[in-house]
Amino acid sequence: MKNIILHFIFFSIFVACYSCDDGRIYPKEVVLPQEGLSVKLSGHLKGLASWPENYTVCIAGFSDESDYAILSKVIAPGSSADVEVILSGIKEEVTQLELCVTNRLRKRVVTFAKMTTESLQASAQTTLFDVGMLDVGLFTTLQREVFNTSCVACHGANGRAARDLFLTEGASYQALVGQPSKVNKEMLLVAPGEASASMLPQVLSKEGLVQHSHTDLLDAKKKTLLLTLINDWIDAGASE
Ligand code: HEC
Repeated sequence: MKNIILHFIFFSIFVACYSCDDGRIYPKEVVLPQEGLSVKLSGHLKGLASWPENYTVCIAGFSDESDYAILSKVIAPGSSADVEVILSGIKEEVTQLELCVTNRLRKRVVTFAKMTTESLQASAQTTLFDVGMLDVGLFTTLQREVFNTSCVACHGANGRAARDLFLTEGASYQALVGQPSKVNKEMLLVAPGEASASMLPQVLSKEGLVQHSHTDLLDAKKKTLLLTLINDWIDAGASE
């Protein structure tokens, strides 16, 4: 019996040693990471906490065909302004990475910074996406996407404003929030917490409230998203 056990031990050692090295040299293969590539977003972001809960400031991956994020990583509203977030698992179908705001359906609402995935190296390393200092606040977004784009031509850009309503940067907040309408004295232009009682969203969505039609001023592709954003901003308290 002892003999059999000894034989077995020797045999095991022989097999183990033999299988350690079969003597062949394999060519080195470059293997793309199965789990996708990674990007580290870093930046100093102001205004993270200003978004109502149905919106998410995030780093997200998109394809060329769709406005809906394929994957995303939330930047917590409570995090400090110095942000570092890693998005991993970025696969081939993703062509663009964005620091953006998405809505409940993960649809892109607004983009603050972007990079194409072409520049990502196919290596194990994480690529840096440095966005620098940015104001991602909700009111700043409205100023840029709505007032600067579609309104200031008549409301203040040349020093004069229709109905004395200045929607220029630095003036718009004070001119709108809590201020009575000059057209309909019963209403406020923006009544914090009450979009349905505020002149601003009404003028942009209903005919007949003011003489000059305002319902086709917003870029047709973004109109619904921007109107919803204005309403949500007011309902959430219209903070600056
Ligand atoms: C082509 C010129 C023009 C553009 C562009 C324009 N407005 Fe006006 N807006 C007017 C005029 C004129 C009035 C005054 C209408 C009246 O007296 O009935 C007015 C009135 C208003 C009022 C009502 C003011 C009050 O006291 O009740 C609001 C609110 C308003 N505009 C918001 C906007 C916003 C927001 C935009 C951009 C999305 C915009 N306007 C773009 C010409 C313009």
